[in-house]
Amino acid sequence: MPEIKVLTEDVVSKIAAGEVIERPASVLKELIENSLDAGASRIEIEIKKAGHGLIRVHDDGRGMDREDLRLALGRHATSKLNTFEDIYSLATFGFRGEALYSIFAVSRLKIISFRAGADSGYAIEGEGGRVIAELPAPPVKGTTIEAADLFFNTPARAKFMKSDASERAQLIKTVEEAALANLGVSFRLVIDGSEILSLPTLPGGLWENLKNRAAFIFGKSTYGGMARVEGKTTGMAVYGFSSRPDALCATRVNQHFFVNRRPVSSALLRQALYRGYGHMLTGKHPACAIFVELDPGSFDANIHPQKRDVKFSGENEIFKTLSNTIYEELLSKQTAGVNMTAPAGEVKFGSPDLPAYREAASPSPAPVSAEAPGLFDAPVAAAALSPAPADWRSRELKYLGQLAKSYLLFECEAGLLVVDQHAAQERVLFEKYLEEFSKGAIKVQPLLVPLETELSRSQM
Ligand SMILES: Nc1ncnc2c1ncn2[C@@H]1O[C@H](COP(=O)(O)OP(=O)(O)OP(=O)(O)O)[C@@H](O)[C@H]1O
Ligand SMILES: [Mg+2]
Repeated sequence: MPEIKVLTEDVVSKIAAGEVIERPASVLKELIENSLDAGASRIEIEIKKAGHGLIRVHDDGRGMDREDLRLALGRHATSKLNTFEDIYSLATFGFRGEALYSIFAVSRLKIISFRAGADSGYAIEGEGGRVIAELPAPPVKGTTIEAADLFFNTPARAKFMKSDASERAQLIKTVEEAALANLGVSFRLVIDGSEILSLPTLPGGLWENLKNRAAFIFGKSTYGGMARVEGKTTGMAVYGFSSRPDALCATRVNQHFFVNRRPVSSALLRQALYRGYGHMLTGKHPACAIFVELDPGSFDANIHPQKRDVKFSGENEIFKTLSNTIYEELLSKQTAGVNMTAPAGEVKFGSPDLPAYREAASPSPAPVSAEAPGLFDAPVAAAALSPAPADWRSRELKYLGQLAKSYLLFECEAGLLVVDQHAAQERVLFEKYLEEFSKGAIKVQPLLVPLETELSRSQM
């Protein structure tokens, strides 16, 4: 008897679904992208129990007739691809023809759809990949898809879900990203009966609309610290918003990258963003909504079943364009306005009470890559970075001014001394608290007035 068996269709569908549908937010992403591909101008979403109870997406797109509705549930059934080569000239989010099939395999699914010109609408429902009922429905424009009881038949997968709060945050982020990238479409999101997002379409151009959505999604304080970025090279355009160097965030949660409006997780784009900031990051992170527009033939979205990974044919060019755009738009503009007229004065720098700092301050500064598009790309870089003498702390220093709201410049015997003001302040505080700690007396004082912190919807 052979050891090898061909798996049953039921097992195959669950395995396939496992790749595409990792969590409730994967279902929502696929359904929203289907609505966008169907030309919807309005997408309404209702979620119950962090997506495990219900994910319902209603759109006013072109809909499906009876025959297409039946076909849509099958594996590798798509209206978006004819030949394999079409993948490299795609104008749609979907192309694999397996999202509905996968969702159907692990939920109780109901689809109601109407295509203009058909006699009536049509509904189909079933569970675990098995159709239970097909019936006519009212001729209401568009499509409504309800996926209920997600993972009801794959309890092992259900066990891997994160907390409801985390799944909910991911669902909100999915809608936020779709809304940032599709400004001509209105979005409404209701979770457990409460309206979380309502983003209508507004008159005005791209920037006006992007600004409105970004301000709503990032929140007033984060958005208030962002600046517009825009750059272009042959075959590539970059635009969006990114934090000013003086308004960076503590975490990376507010970073969104898009390639041809497709939300992506790309290490290349993130690294290019960080390289653009160079030494200005000081351990913090920019918030951003960065849109990269490329020829569809110059990247491949067929890397992972969830279509969030992309492979670029010209990685170096993309890296350079994005990092240079960030650098030029944010940093050079900021340094151009540097106030160098601060009153110069003689100061004694350094304190004998800071032994740890003295040790940490190596006489040979770490080499800075000549390629880094940092603040010191200009020819003065070599002089500024030449090793300071070991005893520079005891020398007389002449304060010259502040650069880019972050660096203090001093003239010293060896040339120019640059002090990272924020890092220096952190060091001073660190020493202070270390001393208090070693004496066993960290001072704690409750706030008289509560401190307000703004969180985005997905962080709540
Ligand atoms: N909301 C919708 N409105 C109109 N047609 C839809 C809608 N959702 C799905 N369809 C149709 O059903 C087909 C199958 O959808 P499905 O999401 O499974 O595959 P896809 O979008 O083609 O590719 P992918 O698996 O990459 O998402 C689509 O190609 C489309 O023709
Ligand atoms: Mg799809």
